Amino acid sequence: MQYRTFGRTGWQVSEIGYGMWGMGGWTGSDDEESLASLHRAVELGCNFFDTAWAYGDGHSEKLLGELVRAYPDKKLYTASKIPPKNRIWPSKPHFKIEDVFPPDYIRQYTESSLENLGLDAIDLMQFHVWEDGWAGDEGWQRAVDDLKREGLIGAIGISVNRWEPNNALQTLRTGLMDAVQVIYNIFDQAPEDELFPLCDELNIGVIARVPFDEGTLTGTLTKNMRWPEGDWRNTYFVPENLNESVDRAEALRPLVPEHMTMAQMALRFILANPTVSTIIPGMRKLRHVEANIATSDGQALPPALITALRDHRWDREPTEWSQ
Ligand SMILES: NC(=O)c1ccc[n+]([C@@H]2O[C@H](COP(=O)([O-])OP(=O)(O)OC[C@H]3O[C@@H](n4cnc5c(N)ncnc54)[C@H](OP(=O)(O)O)[C@@H]3O)[C@@H](O)[C@H]2O)c1
Repeated sequence: MQYRTFGRTGWQVSEIGYGMWGMGGWTGSDDEESLASLHRAVELGCNFFDTAWAYGDGHSEKLLGELVRAYPDKKLYTASKIPPKNRIWPSKPHFKIEDVFPPDYIRQYTESSLENLGLDAIDLMQFHVWEDGWAGDEGWQRAVDDLKREGLIGAIGISVNRWEPNNALQTLRTGLMDAVQVIYNIFDQAPEDELFPLCDELNIGVIARVPFDEGTLTGTLTKNMRWPEGDWRNTYFVPENLNESVDRAEALRPLVPEHMTMAQMALRFILANPTVSTIIPGMRKLRHVEANIATSDGQALPPALITALRDHRWDREPTEWSQ
């Protein structure tokens, strides 16, 4: 495993981190399998774990706490998120911050996450939705400052809404944010336009999330794919999205190098960007942990392949189904 510096915090984080949404709420999750996968990741050098209160109303946080407490001699970085008070993902520009992240609520949910984790502090707390119009609000600024001074959180960040990488730029310019989490992958290259240069300038840690476009970039989706009832992917991969996603994944197939899977090519594309501090693939299966961590070997993709993958950029606008 290779390590990178997480912005101004100076933390040395594993290039391949761990996304813990699936195990908290997607159908087909099995705690025993998830925990075995988490332990294997630690053995292989993974030290950055992204969870959220909303991932199973604390279930994913509890699994992370169990993992961290099992390794008292290892530094494992914990990242969690405060859910929006109105429970609407994503936020909308007209939402008022007092309805989404009022100061007492920021504290209440930090304490709730700490209780779920069973830890004294969370390394990185993130806002689970964000509107850049909230940048100057003194309520969140004071609440975050208090939590940091009391040692309940080490750093603060924003998880920007899907396909809105520029909806945090003003807030980052306040100098009060340590990290940003954004969708960045072969399709979603837009963070390179404005967000990443600003993160470089301000020395902000960057978490690349959804590296496989929720599964498309693993090359395993088909146009007639359906998930068990209650799985959120049925509402995301509506026909309009699924059909085009599968076509675009098929168009990538000829580019996948021998002895590499499409998923591994997708991770290596992201690793080629030095602004990214860590990537957090969602993984519940042991074989996925091993395949994904194997990509952090310092072997870069050939420049010609990176250039070819750039042509597969897919700029999208938030829609009713995009969430
Ligand atoms: N608003 C937000 O803040 C927000 C939103 C979305 C995601 N996130 C964070 O980002 C993380 C990653 O996103 P995601 O989990 O939604 O999507 P993702 O990482 O793009 O895709 C996850 C899917 O890929 C599969 N997979 C993983 N490695 C694979 C491999 N090597 N080969 C084939 N399939 C593989 C997983 O299977 P298994 O699970 O069965 O192993 C899972 O079905 C989340 O877990 C969460 O921590 C945050």
